[in-house]
Amino acid sequence: MRHRPRINRWTESRRNLIHDPSIKSSLVQPYFVVDGINIREEIPGMPNIYRESLENLLDTVKQDYEAGIRAIMLFGVVSEDLKDDYANQAMNELSHLHKAVFELKKIFNDDLVIMTDVCLCTATAHGHCGIVIDGEIENDESVEILAKIALSHAKAGADYVCASDMMDGRVLSIRKTLEDSGFSSTGILAYSVKYASSFYGPFRNAASSSPKTGDRKSHQMDIRSGYKEAIFESKLDQEEGADIIMIKPGLPYLDVVKIVSDEVEKPVAVYNVSGEYAMVMNSAIDSSQRKSMVLEILNSFKRSGADIIVTYHAREALAQGWIK
Ligand code: PBG
Repeated sequence: MRHRPRINRWTESRRNLIHDPSIKSSLVQPYFVVDGINIREEIPGMPNIYRESLENLLDTVKQDYEAGIRAIMLFGVVSEDLKDDYANQAMNELSHLHKAVFELKKIFNDDLVIMTDVCLCTATAHGHCGIVIDGEIENDESVEILAKIALSHAKAGADYVCASDMMDGRVLSIRKTLEDSGFSSTGILAYSVKYASSFYGPFRNAASSSPKTGDRKSHQMDIRSGYKEAIFESKLDQEEGADIIMIKPGLPYLDVVKIVSDEVEKPVAVYNVSGEYAMVMNSAIDSSQRKSMVLEILNSFKRSGADIIVTYHAREALAQGWIK
């Protein structure tokens, strides 16, 4: 089956994330998992956001859960010596990312929505989001690998696998692979409308996922493209079986969030990306100023129609009680 509407109602935590209209219930906090022991390093340009090894990550998620976080997005950071041309480490079921998903599922069961980023760029030596053959990013070969990565995350216990690569046809391929393997309750969050943005800088440093040569413009959307392409990409992913449609970045594309949420039937997520976070953190002089900026931004996402907000601000906003 390509469409399984029950996926978004499978657990109470998924239902709350998608249907509770409050800002608090809409938030998803991102995390970066690294290999090693007792690592917790703050990411340059992203105060209060860390690269953490497994045990530290579990502690941080527990702390965030206490503060009210109920949905998380995990990124696996792969060390340089484990990268290759085919992103094998990204589908290694024994990797620290897979272990993190497994352990978190064991601790929180269905009380926490666990999302995982599915892409090749963190695990390829060249840093591209796909397989490179003769200097070109090959679509169909990349899609096969993406489906394998998604399946490995599903096996580890992810609630949603989040395809962030922007290859053609990957949602269909992931859905088919999940179905064939019996994972009929694993959701797909599609980064459907993802622009070739310059707001991903701090993230790429954190995830060590910058392309060694070239850029991502042959697959991520042109920043000048209009509403038609955004609607087309969203509907395509919806038809292919996506359970959630995401627009990314957030603030420069609020108009797109509005248009897409008017056009699609599936829930809409927005990604308030690393560069947007850095901008606020750099410009807010004190915490009360940051509080008003963050609340203003989160309200703008809600107003534009986002059901789900992926944001690095979630941790502080909840810990400080800015959002009740
Ligand atoms: C992986 C991916 C990226 C982000 C999320 N998933 C980087 C990119 O596309 O280069 C960016 C998130 C952020 O900036 O916070 N493809």
